[in-house]
Amino acid sequence: MSKITIKDLYLIFGNEKRKALRMIKEGKSKSAILKETHCTIAVQNANLTINEGEIFVIMGLSGSGKSTLLRCINRLIKPTQGEVIINGRDIALASDKELLDIRRKELAMVFQHFGLLPHRSVLQNIAFGLELQGVRKEEREKKALESMELVGLKGYEEQMVGELSGGMQQRVGLARALANNPEVLLMDEAFSALDPLIRVQMQDELLALQAKMKKTIVFITHDLNEAIKLGDRIAIMKDGEIVQIGSSEEILTEPANAYVERFVENVDRSKIITASSVMIDKPLVVRLWKEGPEGVIRKMKQRNLTVLPVVDANNVLLGEVRLNDLLQLRKEQTKSIDSVVRHEVHSVLADTVIEDILPLMTKTNSPIWVVNEEREFQGTVPLSSLIIEVTGKDKTEINEIIKNAIDL
Ligand SMILES: Nc1ncnc2c1ncn2[C@@H]1O[C@H](COP(=O)(O)OP(=O)(O)OP(=O)(O)O)[C@@H](O)[C@H]1O
Ligand SMILES: [Mg+2]
Repeated sequence: MSKITIKDLYLIFGNEKRKALRMIKEGKSKSAILKETHCTIAVQNANLTINEGEIFVIMGLSGSGKSTLLRCINRLIKPTQGEVIINGRDIALASDKELLDIRRKELAMVFQHFGLLPHRSVLQNIAFGLELQGVRKEEREKKALESMELVGLKGYEEQMVGELSGGMQQRVGLARALANNPEVLLMDEAFSALDPLIRVQMQDELLALQAKMKKTIVFITHDLNEAIKLGDRIAIMKDGEIVQIGSSEEILTEPANAYVERFVENVDRSKIITASSVMIDKPLVVRLWKEGPEGVIRKMKQRNLTVLPVVDANNVLLGEVRLNDLLQLRKEQTKSIDSVVRHEVHSVLADTVIEDILPLMTKTNSPIWVVNEEREFQGTVPLSSLIIEVTGKDKTEINEIIKNAIDL
């Protein structure tokens, strides 16, 4: 279900917003608009839908408009044009009182530089938002303690925030955001100020927490690895525009343009691409109950294949047959292929990443078969497509390498 929808959103900084807006629509460049109107186009024509319970990452280089877009979601900034719909309600139309209510109950924000009160205790910091809302002391401390427990801060209640390490301070920031049990967490570069090791630890903890809480999280980062690790889906921004939205695998396998392609070129693809993107999903199969050696040999020769998967009448993978075995059967004039079906084969689920498929390739010279949880046959991952993914070489090059290797 959609939790947040952004439609045709523009955010312009400066005084001559109307004129700047007209110029964008006339196709004028941002630099020309800046020169003529002194306006900055921070977000241009943004459209996106964030689903309930997902971690939606917004990523892009510095100045690409990530924070501005996020601030439009909780209306810290009022959009110049367009809609921000939260739980079906356009928040641009909300009255001040309604807005306060939305920010209290539905949205909470975690900032890069924590935004804490250093001379107050951990407990006071976490309860601070509730205090502003006039929640009774007993009640707010109860809620604060619950959210401290969630983020691993139990026992730190009385510590002064200014005396904590960065990682612990950001835990306080997170606990404060969670104290009111909001539906949506907005996190702007929340882990960027942390040391690399602590940062990775916080990412792991956020994922563990999310597995329990199932909040809707909008997470901003300019770190691609962080985006890939955390994001169910990722939006990539460039110069105020969203250039692509998709899962990390979609972005890697179908980059929308050369910019995205360059952006992701150094990512370790084998950790992200799964069997489902490299498999041939309508390959030849052998139906054990109705095919004999002659027919299968013909099939293989037509397609220049030496091994095929064998399935039963329910499409469950039984094993594989090899051309050499079938030729032997033909010599012996055996009519059933039962005796040559090899049952010890390598199979994986469609969501297995290539990194985990590669070790299997060293144990077999057959393709890897893809099955679902019920062992129903889904597709074939040929050796060549794995090598293509890992090396980045193209198909003809790979076929040449394989052919030469076989000729040797
Ligand atoms: N208050 C402001 N007044 C004028 N221009 C602004 C203001 N805030 C941001 N901008 C401009 O809007 C554009 C987008 O800025 P924004 O802060 O949203 O980028 P960002 O992607 O969050 O960058 P960073 O990764 O550095 O945080 C930039 O060109 C920035 O200079
Ligand atoms: Mg920012």
